[in-house]
Amino acid sequence: MSNQVLEIIKQRSSARAYSAEKLTQTELDSILEAGLQAPTGKNKKEIFFSIVSGDNPILAELDDEKRRLRGQESQPHNFFFEAPVVIFLSAEDDFKWSKVDAGIAVQNMTLAAESLGLGTLIIGCVYDALHGEKKEYFSKQLQIPEGYSFEIALAVGHKTDNKAPHDYEFAKQVAII
Ligand SMILES: Cc1cc2nc3c(=O)[nH]c(=O)nc-3n(C[C@H](O)[C@H](O)[C@H](O)COP(=O)(O)O)c2cc1C
Repeated sequence: MSNQVLEIIKQRSSARAYSAEKLTQTELDSILEAGLQAPTGKNKKEIFFSIVSGDNPILAELDDEKRRLRGQESQPHNFFFEAPVVIFLSAEDDFKWSKVDAGIAVQNMTLAAESLGLGTLIIGCVYDALHGEKKEYFSKQLQIPEGYSFEIALAVGHKTDNKAPHDYEFAKQVAII
């Protein structure tokens, strides 16, 4: 069986190289809308989206903190692989479905971007940096609301690499009951 949505799901893969070309406002709006239209537990809509341009110095600061925590001085790339935009998703601290809802929203945006011919990378590696001793500082810079914490980020841009979609072992991951 095949249709446009299934094709987009099948063809998506993570992009770890981007050109400097920026997204158009329409592209960015469409991707954000896909995130905002994602379902949330109890329809709570507890996901907050911080849109950061790839040249914003806060990204370099965050990259430095991530490297410091991981002892990664020699890593060649920054965590967002020079993507022109990085979207940070945060969610309410004390809501049971926050992590699930952030995951659903980020995947909605990933597939929306793919359908527009853009590349994406879901980014979790800055989690500790955003939850550590500089949490308050970074949360303020990203305008994360009080009582919310970072969950996941998404780099988006025009990809210049072309990784094949990952494979999987159906029998290992699926039980037909
Ligand atoms: C929750 C989550 C966190 C991730 N964090 C990172 C990350 O910090 N850095 C990175 O390069 N890739 C990250 N990835 C991308 C995965 O490595 C990638 O999705 C996986 O290797 C499968 O490859 P594919 O996306 O090309 O199918 C993350 C993916 C998910 C779902």
